[in-house]
Amino acid sequence: MNNISKLISLLGGTGAVAEKLKIRPSAISNWKKLDKIPSTKLEAILELSSYLDVNIENFFPSKKLNNLKFKMLLIICGGIASYKSLEIIRLIKKTDIELDVVMTKSAQKFITPLLVTSLNEKKCYIDLFSVEDETKMNHIKLARNPDLILVAPATANIMAKFANGLADDLASTILLASFSKIIFAPSMNPIMWNNLATQENYKTLLDRGIKFIEPDTGDMACGENGIGRFPEPKTIYEFILSYIKESQMLSSQFKNISIVITAGPTVEAIDPVRFISNNSSGKQGFEIASELTKRGAKVTVISGPVNIPFPNCENVIEVKTAQEMFNNVTQQLPADVLICCAAVADWKLIPKTSTNNIIDLNNKIKKTNKNLFFETIKNPDILETIAKSNLRPKIVIGFSAETDNIKKNAHSKLISKNVDLMIANDVSNNKVFGEDYNEVCFIYKDNYEQLEKQSKKSVAYHLANKINDLLVNFKKEA
Ligand code: CTP
Repeated sequence: MNNISKLISLLGGTGAVAEKLKIRPSAISNWKKLDKIPSTKLEAILELSSYLDVNIENFFPSKKLNNLKFKMLLIICGGIASYKSLEIIRLIKKTDIELDVVMTKSAQKFITPLLVTSLNEKKCYIDLFSVEDETKMNHIKLARNPDLILVAPATANIMAKFANGLADDLASTILLASFSKIIFAPSMNPIMWNNLATQENYKTLLDRGIKFIEPDTGDMACGENGIGRFPEPKTIYEFILSYIKESQMLSSQFKNISIVITAGPTVEAIDPVRFISNNSSGKQGFEIASELTKRGAKVTVISGPVNIPFPNCENVIEVKTAQEMFNNVTQQLPADVLICCAAVADWKLIPKTSTNNIIDLNNKIKKTNKNLFFETIKNPDILETIAKSNLRPKIVIGFSAETDNIKKNAHSKLISKNVDLMIANDVSNNKVFGEDYNEVCFIYKDNYEQLEKQSKKSVAYHLANKINDLLVNFKKEA
């Protein structure tokens, strides 16, 4: 049995695959005969494999996957290993990946831009202050164009610069101005690698979602032995290819899935100048929106007032009050998934005087000697109302902000609000609101999973995987 025949059989057989892809079974028989899938159908096959959790790694030699367009920028920094990046260029050039190369000043002490230009058959960029390039704002173009930036070899210097936000040359400016996935392949002396400063920069970058191809251990060019060796170019090349395959699969993981996310605080006015609200920053909800968008979902965020940039997603609707948030969420239904991250004010406060005199809420309440009282009016519970309605999305997820009995309280909310997954966090001592890190526990009906403290970006990544599992289970049960 050839490769493609094996894959088709794992995906359910000729008939099932033909039906899923809406093509004739004879076309699939043809693929099997030729042991080849046409590039126009590759994406659909990747998507189906990902949906059915079939590992396609062994079925596609890298060349075939390269039919899917991918743009990459290689930043070469200065070190003994700089010359090895020439081999990376040579390997990448064998594929259909569109490659640009930037060299730092120190890299040019080891290899020349001319050599890189000849190998890549394209201009190699070296200067932030090039009059010719900057007429087209080239550093921004170089930062925005690629799907992936590989820094190889990455020196302790570039790690320190990026971790601390320095932008004093073309390479560091591109890194700061980019939305692309960034991978570092460090190479340096073992003492430099183990230095507390480098290790702290490494940790900072990891926490910010930068990927690392870990350095090897062994004999170094400087005569010392230890960790810090540049991995073999072939290892880096293979890492990049499998990253591309994974990201291309992930980018369509939630294709055709609509997701509504509530985020941030809500605000309830007391009079024209006073209000009650809470400390929610919106960071966790926005990270989730970005992660799910990256994976192909159509995401709408309904956000209370926040002071952070909006996520890059289909739609962000700004609201103030709980009632406005509720109305807007309802308008977005039906949707496949609802994630309620917002810290919604449970009550509106209506000011009253002790003698119940009417206060005109259009005017600022004036200070008097008399005490002021508040009548509380309950706001709608957005999560619970929708989870129990006939508009209930397939998957409903809530966050449970607790200061004590965290798992127990979150589990009670999961049951009482009829949700599929409750994400519990300890909000005592302002541990979560406004922070970049979160320590959460995923609470299900019958079990739970405690995650260690990690960045909100990383929590979003784990949650996206869980949502995929929940959607797969939902489809199986349907
Ligand atoms: N929630 C909501 N609408 C509300 C209150 C809460 O949608 N009016 C959602 C939150 O977005 C969160 C979940 O319900 O996903 C739990 O919110 P939380 O503040 O932890 O709990 P409450 O239900 O408000 O209960 P309590 O304040 O008593 O802990």
